Amino acid sequence: MTAPVRIETMFDPYALRAQFPILKREINGKPLVYLDNAASAQKPEAVIEAVADVWRHSYANVHRGLHTLANEATEAFEGARAKTARFLGAGRPEEIVFTRGATEAINLVAASFGAELKPGDEIILSQMEHHSNIVPWHFLRERLGVVLKWAPVTEDGALDMDAYEALFTPRTRLAAISHMSNVLGTVNPARRLAEIAHAHGAAILLDGSQAAVHLPDLDVRVIGCDFYVFTGHKLYGPNGAGALYAAGDWLERLAPWQGGGEMIAEVSETGVVYADPPHKFEAGTPAIADVIGLGAAIDWVQALDRPGVLAHERALLDRTEAGLSDIKGLRLFGRTQDKGAIAAFTIEGAHPHDLAQIMDKYGVAVRAGHHCAHPLMQRYGVSGTVRASFAAYNTVDDVDAFLEALRKAITFLI
Ligand SMILES: Cc1ncc(COP(=O)(O)O)c(C=O)c1O
Repeated sequence: MTAPVRIETMFDPYALRAQFPILKREINGKPLVYLDNAASAQKPEAVIEAVADVWRHSYANVHRGLHTLANEATEAFEGARAKTARFLGAGRPEEIVFTRGATEAINLVAASFGAELKPGDEIILSQMEHHSNIVPWHFLRERLGVVLKWAPVTEDGALDMDAYEALFTPRTRLAAISHMSNVLGTVNPARRLAEIAHAHGAAILLDGSQAAVHLPDLDVRVIGCDFYVFTGHKLYGPNGAGALYAAGDWLERLAPWQGGGEMIAEVSETGVVYADPPHKFEAGTPAIADVIGLGAAIDWVQALDRPGVLAHERALLDRTEAGLSDIKGLRLFGRTQDKGAIAAFTIEGAHPHDLAQIMDKYGVAVRAGHHCAHPLMQRYGVSGTVRASFAAYNTVDDVDAFLEALRKAITFLI
């Protein structure tokens, strides 16, 4: 009998780590084991340098100057837009609006798309949404009488697709769903979600805050969504820069949400003529260096062996879940196939906060709490979980250190 073929990834996380200065740190006298990547990822030298380089050598305000520095900054800023468009698979850079992050991008859609809604119009969300894809829609419920409907999550952590489809009615205007859950790791079938929404005459927004980091084949045109949002700081980029993709002529059709400089063509005492999109949605001075840093982060990510990184992160998750399966009283949330590299769990008799605090003593950084997902916590009847979330630079040593610290914390607490 021939031995099964093992596909080895060539991806080397140890070489990658050398690019991250912070990973050389010690925490409480122990090597840092950073497993809070779903909250925010650490930054490689290439990104740190790109941001510093703007401050040091080519900083000026964008879009308004006629001098050399202003032109250089504008070129780099608009270059980041072109990179973002290519990264997402958008047709044109003009379909990309820079925002502070996913939260601001969703608030933009809620304000501009929401301005056209009437009382009784419906928006479909899911139980696994992050609060940033919930609260802006609650504003519309409170202020306009829009009805929020909730697609349920199964015990395993999948989106119940039949129930999702059954929620649509002629009054449904939008579905707003995460592409990948920040707690369960579940990767939702984005294309199918979009097909269903469109078949019912509704638009769809996908929250790609986690998916943009982990899924190598992201393509908003293949997905066919109307809106896609993501945030730069989880993608190894600076915080303060993220993006909204709006397909086709959405940005032409929607009214701007914030007013100020940069978003106008002309202002008089009696009226305003708006600038063309995307500038119509970018009032005021943007986060210039951070947006350019986001462009550098995208370059950095795209230069990785992304399928190799995905396979590596999955291998880390498998090792983590195998280790967790030996622990008495452990409940793992999110058991779908091909989930992203996130392990959220509770342990009977030990509070998640206590576990995380003790693990910190061993240099292990994990998240504990509700992860900005109260409806999901309510769905599972828990107040919070511990969450270990992985990035390209994590290693099997990190997994083993995490499991060891967890066992010590359990021994201490139970
Ligand atoms: C799924 C998801 N959506 C939205 C956000 C919000 O991102 P930001 O705070 O960068 O706007 C997060 C951050 O944790 C997230 O995980």
